[in-house]
Amino acid sequence: MIIAIDGPAAAGKGTLSRRIAEAYGFHHLDTGLTYRATARALLDAGLPLDDEGIAAKIAGTVELAGLDRDILSAHEIGEAASKIAVMPSVRRALVDAQRAFSIREPGTVLDGRDIGTVVCPQAPVKLYVTASPEVRAKRRFDEIVGKGRAADFEAIFEDVKRRDERDMGRADSPLKPAEDAHLLDTSEMSIEAAFRAAKDLIDAALNKA
Ligand code: DC
Repeated sequence: MIIAIDGPAAAGKGTLSRRIAEAYGFHHLDTGLTYRATARALLDAGLPLDDEGIAAKIAGTVELAGLDRDILSAHEIGEAASKIAVMPSVRRALVDAQRAFSIREPGTVLDGRDIGTVVCPQAPVKLYVTASPEVRAKRRFDEIVGKGRAADFEAIFEDVKRRDERDMGRADSPLKPAEDAHLLDTSEMSIEAAFRAAKDLIDAALNKA
């Protein structure tokens, strides 16, 4: 059983995916972390972010077991990740690792940008989780302020829009809903309501399997 969850940055898919994985006892992979880990390794080693050959080689060494969102959450790492994510050979290396993960028993939840369209097009449940750019920027703003740090809403809003353009506009595996994805707009929905809606869809798919 594979549950594919896609959507733009800060739409709430991470929290939702973790909750779903926990509820069903499935393994969870946040595929954004694989792009972030590659970007971080390049930054740490002082390697360029615009050399596809080097970036692909590093992508091939990423260990899924060691991915940690806290360590990889820095803004610069997200920006760098979104830049190397346009490179086809980086994507190939990471998608291979993601597909190997997706077949683990008893089931998996993968979240990212291209899970339903490219990584696991055969997934029986596909969700496309979204929210307006304003709502997503506000959530990120609240999260930063909640941690006691200063935040600039306008800068975050611009950042969300720039990230969307890059993720949706790239030639290889752009962010878009799979044709058979269920759309879940969380702009005016609590995480609890989104979880219940997702659970109904998954239960229906499990009953059919
Ligand atoms: O979800 P995130 O912010 O951790 O993702 C970081 C970047 O990685 C994002 O801008 C685009 C890229 N990404 C991708 O291209 N494909 C995925 N399946 C997941 C993330």
